[in-house]
Amino acid sequence: MRKGIILAGGKGTRLYPLTSVVSKQLLHVYDKPMVYYPLSLLMFANIRDILVISTPHDLPKYEELLGDGSDFGLNLSYKVQLAPRGLPEAFILAEDFLDGAPSALILGDNIFFGSGIPPLLEKVSADREGMHIFSYLVQDPREYGVVEINEKREVISIEEKPQNPKSNLALTGLYFCDHQAPALAKALKPSARGEIEIIDLMKQYHKIEQLKMQQFGRGTAWLDTGNPDSLLDASNFIATIERRQGFKVACLEEIAFNKEWINRETLERLAEKQRNSFYGKYLYTLLGY
Ligand code: TTP
Repeated sequence: MRKGIILAGGKGTRLYPLTSVVSKQLLHVYDKPMVYYPLSLLMFANIRDILVISTPHDLPKYEELLGDGSDFGLNLSYKVQLAPRGLPEAFILAEDFLDGAPSALILGDNIFFGSGIPPLLEKVSADREGMHIFSYLVQDPREYGVVEINEKREVISIEEKPQNPKSNLALTGLYFCDHQAPALAKALKPSARGEIEIIDLMKQYHKIEQLKMQQFGRGTAWLDTGNPDSLLDASNFIATIERRQGFKVACLEEIAFNKEWINRETLERLAEKQRNSFYGKYLYTLLGY
């Protein structure tokens, strides 16, 4: 079974002073902590064994918030990343946890919304070979990894923050890998900025012809949360959708309940615990109250 990794470390310097004592991925996006959103994505891919990685300072907060995962029908483990040495370090830190299983890594600050997501993730998750990267069409891709593809949608090149991008396909912070990821990550050399780079891991998979690209369609939202404006925009986006529809985005208890990973009694207990909030009241509506 594929296992999940949420990388929720880093310094979040673009959000200072907001993140000077609180981990960025614990900040709120409208009505819930940011990390709920990437967690929901792994749940949509039917992944239940998940490793949460964060800094020595912040990891205990994640444990306090999410516990052993049983409230969400999950099995959560935790691991410290001593310093932000690069995204592929997640696969190295997760090696024992993965124990040879394929994985899905998501960055703790990546928010996706759209009805096409669960079917796409379920389909990709079933393919246990190679590395799948996920792109998204943006107007200005210069601050992202950019992927160039041919007419058969095969990857031709990948570049990090190019000044003259070869396409408008930006790479999102979601990566599905086979069992080779920890070994390949260990062989990477740090770049000029002193980090091992996810783009170099992609290049390794490309070299062995096992790099595959998926694209989120235009009916999908991929939201940035890295600076105060994008964080506010993300909150407003979620608020607009939730208030209009009456459904919550990334309500972990709801996803778990619908997948029958938690029962009515558990949901009732969780609703009771949060009954003073709109979130808790929403959980009651799921029970038909
Ligand atoms: P970055 O955008 O590189 O860093 P950051 O979000 O901490 O922010 P800033 O640029 O404001 O200083 O990282 C992207 C995500 O990955 C973010 O959620 C932090 C996380 N991350 C780690 O957890 N460990 C790492 O080694 C790196 C490089 C990033």
